[in-house]
Amino acid sequence: MCGIVGYIGNRDAYPVLIKGLKRLEYRGYDSAGVALINAQGQLDVYKTKGKVADLENFVVEKDVSGTIGIAHTRWATHGEPNSANAHPHVSSSRNLALVHNGIIENYATIKAKLLAKGYKFCSETDTEVLVQLIEYVQISNHLSLFKAVQLALRQVIGAYAIAVLDKKNPKEIVVARKSSPLVIGVGDNEYFVGSDASPIVEYTNKVVYLKDGEIACITLGKDLEIVNLNNVKMVPEIKDVEFNLGKLEKGGYPHFMLKEVFEQPDCIIDCMRGRVNVESQKVLLSAVIDHKDKLLNARRFIIVACGTSWHAGLIGKRLIESFCRIPVEVNYASEFRYSDPLIDERDVVIAISQSGETADTLAAIELAKSKGAFIYGICNAIGSSIPRSTETGSYIHVGPEIGVASTKAFTGQVTVLTILALALAQEKHTMTKELFIKVLDELNRIPEKMKEVLYLDQQISNLAKIFTYAHNFIYMGRGYSYPVALEGALKLKEISYIHAEGYPAAEMKHGPIALVDIEMPVVVIATSGSLYEKVVSNVQEIKARKGRIIAIVTKGDQVISKMADWIIEIPETLECLDPLLTTLPLQLLAYHIAVCKGMNVDQPRNLAKSVTVE
Ligand code: AGP
Ligand code: GLU
Repeated sequence: MCGIVGYIGNRDAYPVLIKGLKRLEYRGYDSAGVALINAQGQLDVYKTKGKVADLENFVVEKDVSGTIGIAHTRWATHGEPNSANAHPHVSSSRNLALVHNGIIENYATIKAKLLAKGYKFCSETDTEVLVQLIEYVQISNHLSLFKAVQLALRQVIGAYAIAVLDKKNPKEIVVARKSSPLVIGVGDNEYFVGSDASPIVEYTNKVVYLKDGEIACITLGKDLEIVNLNNVKMVPEIKDVEFNLGKLEKGGYPHFMLKEVFEQPDCIIDCMRGRVNVESQKVLLSAVIDHKDKLLNARRFIIVACGTSWHAGLIGKRLIESFCRIPVEVNYASEFRYSDPLIDERDVVIAISQSGETADTLAAIELAKSKGAFIYGICNAIGSSIPRSTETGSYIHVGPEIGVASTKAFTGQVTVLTILALALAQEKHTMTKELFIKVLDELNRIPEKMKEVLYLDQQISNLAKIFTYAHNFIYMGRGYSYPVALEGALKLKEISYIHAEGYPAAEMKHGPIALVDIEMPVVVIATSGSLYEKVVSNVQEIKARKGRIIAIVTKGDQVISKMADWIIEIPETLECLDPLLTTLPLQLLAYHIAVCKGMNVDQPRNLAKSVTVE
């Protein structure tokens, strides 16, 4: 995954690069490095295992001068996270330095060829192969760096966003991308490079999103020069980007995750703004207005997503099927892309992604496009790759999500899916007016009810202390609550490293109930609704095996409350909107358990916020 930053101009590059890396740490944080060319034309490369802060400590008392540089924060794909495998990687002559985000799939073949020619390698990465290949092409054909990168990339299979420096030409950075994102910031006689716009926006709001297969030569004092792999000149499209830097800070919370959990009531208001109109009793979703024909005549919707976004998709399926009576399939993007799916122009594919950069989701979109399906994106990151590659879509507008564990994006996605289902039902007349208005009114009340749930923070924090040392957790729910159980389990796994499984409550008896004993905490989402009685029986079954039950119930619950060991009472809402409330206590439970265990909540091990490799 990784974050890439670059700078060329008249300022000291190092502070710009370090600040940029910190903004991009959500993309990976197992090692970091920087390469700078100083005034004497010397190429200094510093890299270390650990976070950007470790890199800062590492370079204390080293020469970090220079007005041109590139930097990287890594999420290892090839080779363990150590300083040798950290980027930048340098060529054999030590003239070139390169940072890379992605995977060079045919690196082994290229490496074998280069080894045969006498090249030596000091890391296990696919990236080092690329910098050596560029140098080999450059030297054997006497080419400029720009040309050498173009030629070398023609031999490469895989995904990449790269930035390369040549110490012989300290006024130039060459960048290129295929599948991984890359943004160039255009300042006043200075240029910036970033995996997204966050390292750039405080210096300039003029950016160029490099397109797939493009290579750019960024030269100080000159206009950007962009070509594609076939050397066809491309015209740079300079866009204005808006970014709220304040939203990137923690705002008094100890962790981004907690801040983001508490932001949810406001996020949902932002997400509904202009779309949900209680007075006129209408919903307005521009994508549905603009593409009515395609959407209303779809024979089927296919949702593709990963992780938490996939969980939101499972809820979306229920919403769309029940409000609009259109069949919906939900697929993991990573499975869908290799499944030779039976789709055509009658299908609508909904791609859900917080980051808008998830490689598997992007590939699923490309596949669906090639089969003629119409693509609808539901994303958070404005201007990211998915919104740029889809015909239409809706942003969730929840602001930057920095904590690796997705929280507000999930509720934002579920809100947009609810609005989408309502918008389609409004056009298709598949809901009674009465039900439509009921859902609309209740959706409008969700932010207030979310606030009530968040008041339970202290209670949940106390509960978390009891379970700090649990080794396993089971989460169960039915209907709309089943995806919530999956999401609750995922949150716990990823930040507390406690093994957790989410199950449809009735499935327990088909195997998993064998795991239940007096040591097993079982979180059950048991709010009032059509399946309540069924869940009561499922809870009985757990109780009979002495499982320790933590139940999320509707305020005033009389039955399950008496059976459970601990209860978390939340306000009543419609069954179809329940996930927007029931998810919150599960986010808080995972958060507090992880904090009690002393885990790095915002940057859990082995993970990255934006999964730009497959
Ligand atoms: C959620 O907590 C995860 N970190 C992860 O599952 C995430 O939802 C997944 O990688 C998909 O990301 P996206 O929404 O940015 O596509
Ligand atoms: N494949 C490169 C490495 O392992 C880059 C990884 C990435 O982009 O996640 O270092």
